[in-house]
Amino acid sequence: MKKLLSPFTKGKFELKNHLVMAPMTRSRAIDNLPNPLMEIYYGQRTGAGLIVTEGTAPVPEALGYPRIPGIFSPQQVEAWKPITAKVHRDETKIFLQLMHTGRIGHKDNLPKGISLAGPTASKAVGQIFTDTKGLQDFSEPLPLSKDGIKQVIAGFVSASKNAIEAGFDGVEIHGANGYLLEQFLNPNVNNRTDKYGGSLKNRSRFTIEVVQAVAQDIGKEKVGIRFSPFSKLGDLALYDEEETTATYAWLAQNLNELGIAYIHIAVNAPIPEKTFQMIRNNFSGTIILSNGLTPETGEEALHAGFADLAAFGRSFLSTPDFVEKIKAGAAINPVDYAHLYTPGSVGYIDYPTIQ
Ligand SMILES: Cc1cc2nc3c(=O)[nH]c(=O)nc-3n(C[C@H](O)[C@H](O)[C@H](O)COP(=O)(O)O)c2cc1C
Repeated sequence: MKKLLSPFTKGKFELKNHLVMAPMTRSRAIDNLPNPLMEIYYGQRTGAGLIVTEGTAPVPEALGYPRIPGIFSPQQVEAWKPITAKVHRDETKIFLQLMHTGRIGHKDNLPKGISLAGPTASKAVGQIFTDTKGLQDFSEPLPLSKDGIKQVIAGFVSASKNAIEAGFDGVEIHGANGYLLEQFLNPNVNNRTDKYGGSLKNRSRFTIEVVQAVAQDIGKEKVGIRFSPFSKLGDLALYDEEETTATYAWLAQNLNELGIAYIHIAVNAPIPEKTFQMIRNNFSGTIILSNGLTPETGEEALHAGFADLAAFGRSFLSTPDFVEKIKAGAAINPVDYAHLYTPGSVGYIDYPTIQ
């Protein structure tokens, strides 16, 4: 674990080690407001060099799930401040993940008068939890007009500005796992006939415009993005392998020109070697690799050439002192799956540590 535990530097991006805590929704933010419980949770996990927070809504219509935090109101900005301050005390960096859930959501999870938005009216097949009626079918989204797209981009920009005000070191734009950005990328959902649909360059346009606008405003070194090529999460269907690889190659090339800090790849479906190669060849910034890693495979990945940093989700979730346990060669705790998304402290801040 020598490299994993050693300090990381690439360009202006510096971390105390090569471990990233992957973004994880925990649904503890009652009324979409960060709170002291979340401060304890993140404060317990500062062994990581970088923490990427749970998916956080940049605009009200992005609140697809119950009890996820937002970063669009002044109260939310204030409520995040103690959390970033706590994490910084241990010299850990913290990026806020900006998650627009798009068509993945239910109207009961949204504030009154707000509708679900998607690239098209295509409704996802499947169900989502609501606090009002339990599991419900996904709601039908309203397709975004060109003006609607402009407003969403403006929402990402003001949310990013808010994140910096709240003390975050940067933002991670969520372009993975079947949410709004990936809904635009995937031709099975995005059948728009304007400049945001059709060719791979058109389908990539929304993602590139979001990143460009945010980078221009808060600074390119404060922006990362997460992708999950070939993912079927959120009722997405696979499309042509060559086309998918070409899409991510094009994105990597454009994001390289924008000079952002990192691309974070979540491997939640098999990704062909060629796709990894194209992304690495086209992007000279930091690449974070995530999903299913152990300290051993994470260390190997850091030597194999694709990844600069290794991210761990459930290991940090169940084991607040994961980094101490790596150093001690101690086993990690099992995940309490029953309490992943339940409100309150059980299965959240009560996992045992070495001390
Ligand atoms: C409870 C839970 C919530 C998650 N929420 C998010 C999220 O908000 N945003 C995101 O990009 N990924 C999310 N993920 C995916 C994780 O970031 C990560 O990709 C996944 O856990 C696989 O990595 P692991 O094998 O190290 O756990 C979540 C995963 C879990 C277990």
